Amino acid sequence: MSDDALFPLALVQPDTNHEGPRVIAPGAVHVPGWLNLEQQRWIVQRFGEWTQGPVPLRAATLPGGHQMSVRTVCLGWHWQPYRYTREATDVNGRPVLEFPEWMLRLGRKAVSAAYSTGAESHQALAELAVHYTPDAALVNFYDRGAAMGMHQDKDERSDAPVVSLSIGETCLFRFGNTQTRTKPYTDVELRSGDLFVFGGPSRFAYHGIPKVLPGTCPDGCGLSHGRINITMRVTGLS
Ligand code: SIN
Ligand code: MN
Repeated sequence: MSDDALFPLALVQPDTNHEGPRVIAPGAVHVPGWLNLEQQRWIVQRFGEWTQGPVPLRAATLPGGHQMSVRTVCLGWHWQPYRYTREATDVNGRPVLEFPEWMLRLGRKAVSAAYSTGAESHQALAELAVHYTPDAALVNFYDRGAAMGMHQDKDERSDAPVVSLSIGETCLFRFGNTQTRTKPYTDVELRSGDLFVFGGPSRFAYHGIPKVLPGTCPDGCGLSHGRINITMRVTGLS
């Protein structure tokens, strides 16, 4: 059985134990515990494969020369500051891995789950779920001491929602506003298995990871330390 077939089987019976969506800002929704431990472990195994190449996990260097503390491997499109390419021209020139079919299906379920909040303003976003077609994923690994400054995800030529999945150590996720990288913002703890979706009026909100809490990986998530975050995006590129 192919890997693509395995994940949806596990997802046929999603965890109904989770608390349901929490609206952080219009269009920005946190769904704690959306992935169960089996699903998390399965994704961690895929992560192990992705890091084998052809493009290795790497810390991107920003235009000022500053190297990010987070290391990233990409699917579908390779992200480098600040554009998407099909080859990792800032790493080793090799082609990026394909965006997996199972992740596309998972992304649709994620958008649908996040926007089933009952809020009228979320109904139109929920209806987008069936056509949601992410074509790039940035898979970040936060090792000891890694963090990410406040930024907007704005290298995409699309305003489709960003779907974020977290596995491993708990982090502090700072979700701000579309105008400034400072207050007002809301700090949310993202734990292993959590889903966060930001679209609609929150799609271009500043956000960042001030810190990851060491030693907080739950037993059975597949990681002994560190944090994996996957963000799926629609690039709008062809
Ligand atoms: C990102 O903003 O690209 C990553 C967010 C996260 O690690 O949760
Ligand atoms: Mn981001």
